[in-house]
Amino acid sequence: MITRKSQREIDMMKAAGRILARCHQEIAKRIKPGVTTAEIDAYVEQFLAEHGAKPEQKGYNGYEFATCASINDEICHGFPRDEKLVEGDIVTIDMVVNLNGGLADSAWTYCVGEPDEKTQKLLDVTRTSLYKGIEQALPGNRIGDIGYAIQQYAEGEGYSVVREFTGHGIGPTIHEDPQIPHFGLPGKGSRLKEGMVITIEPMINEGVWQSKMDDNGWTARTADGERSAQYEHTLVITKDGAMILTDQNHMED
Ligand code: MF3
Ligand code: CO
Repeated sequence: MITRKSQREIDMMKAAGRILARCHQEIAKRIKPGVTTAEIDAYVEQFLAEHGAKPEQKGYNGYEFATCASINDEICHGFPRDEKLVEGDIVTIDMVVNLNGGLADSAWTYCVGEPDEKTQKLLDVTRTSLYKGIEQALPGNRIGDIGYAIQQYAEGEGYSVVREFTGHGIGPTIHEDPQIPHFGLPGKGSRLKEGMVITIEPMINEGVWQSKMDDNGWTARTADGERSAQYEHTLVITKDGAMILTDQNHMED
């Protein structure tokens, strides 16, 4: 069932999104060679506690960490761990923040040290593909319009789009209807309506789109060992277009 959120629910999710966006800005300062994703995860727990918020992923379906930390060929749901990041790694930090029952979900890929040209292009195209999808998140458009815009752009730049993991509705729980694939056909799928809150979170691969699952049952990595990047925002469909709740650039304070 696809729900539309009340203004009160949207305000609560907006407050969660603001904390999440700030947390990402702090993470950006802390991603450096020698740092571990376990340290970043502990920092996130502390940051959220200081802001009266909770890491919603911890305990979700038995997941044990505040963040997902997916390095290089890991697509998503990597476990934070004690391995030091090295210059040139890319790492996606994904988290869901719960502030007084309002949820927001955002992932961001960081480069450890200075990105080379190939890495910079992967990150730029992946981030731009997210915004191409967001541009289509309008009332009256259909879910397929979002995926189509992302896929056309990313494949046109020579990358592939992960199929097994999608964006999703979000509300009182992390994963609600509808699923938002990052590929598809224009004019297909359910119609987007004012008040729906969804995530768009394209995972874009340098090589093939296929993935394989680690023995831990959580972590997906690329089938060919090439790298994968991801950017994710939570957004509300409004009559004027998408309102991003996890935007890191336009925060009032
Ligand atoms: N942020 C992740 C997503 O977009 C949530 C993963 S749930 C977890 O689907 F338990 F794996 F953390
Ligand atoms: Co999500």
